[in-house]
Amino acid sequence: MSELVLLDTREGIATLTINRPEVLNALNGDTLEALRQKIAVLDSDPEVRVVILTGAGEKAFVAGADIARMRDLGPLAARDMALLAQAVLNDLERCRKPVIAAVNGYALGGGCELAMACDLRVASESARFGQPEVNLGIIPGWAGTQRLPRLVGKGRALELILTGDMVDAQEAWRIGLVNKVVPHAELLPEARKLALKIAARSQVATRLCKEAVHHGLELDSARAGIFEADLFGLCFSTADQKEGMSAFLEKRKAQFRDA
Ligand code: CAA
Repeated sequence: MSELVLLDTREGIATLTINRPEVLNALNGDTLEALRQKIAVLDSDPEVRVVILTGAGEKAFVAGADIARMRDLGPLAARDMALLAQAVLNDLERCRKPVIAAVNGYALGGGCELAMACDLRVASESARFGQPEVNLGIIPGWAGTQRLPRLVGKGRALELILTGDMVDAQEAWRIGLVNKVVPHAELLPEARKLALKIAARSQVATRLCKEAVHHGLELDSARAGIFEADLFGLCFSTADQKEGMSAFLEKRKAQFRDA
């Protein structure tokens, strides 16, 4: 059996590919588990600076949770499955490396939820996004009801969730669901270009930026302010802060050491 999640690392950029193209990369328990293991490896690999997540084949990023595996579940098993998937998506969001979704086709249900757990989303012109769970008699269960309104606002999120309609890549860009839309053939090169740009920054700073945004959003604004100030202060314990500011004042390019 071929690997469910492929991993390829070059020049500090790791590319993870969900690899079940025969079912449009639908996510079953084994694939979620494989993804979780790969994320743990990447998180602790000092050679990896940025992660790109994509889907195998030409048609789909991920067409959702595996419906064939879900149909006969009872309530507790369905709840456990939702909790497992939420934990994997949280691992992705909390991973210390910035994660870019390169959305190469359908990103539906759990696929849209997976893309939203990434830090940035670059979409092919042929990508399609949606939360079609209502068409199956269920609700989004992998934190779509939470991440979608945070990204696009409550009204637009409810429109997508209540109708189950798909939107194309341009509309997804217009409502703030994706950062950039590119021709299909340029998707991976563009995602890689963005990854290399971020990889050239201080890794300590990018890690703390990510933490400040994701963790800060879970706090009330007073606590989030203190948390941000704490992380800001922490930057001043690093060599990269001294180097970054010295390089600016000396009109030269900074040489970050990620320390
Ligand atoms: N689960 C299991 N199998 C899936 C799948 C899914 N989510 N999506 C596609 N497949 C399978 C199809 O059953 C089909 O298999 P066979 O060749 O064995 O028949 C194969 O992938 C190709 O799919 P289609 O023939 O349907 O391809 P298409 O081009 O005609 O349509 C599509 C593409 C519009 C994406 C359509 O496949 C589709 O609507 N898929 C389901 C999308 C969906 O409802 N996703 C949400 C799932 S629920 C969820 O994710 C809950 C949650 O919150 C986590």
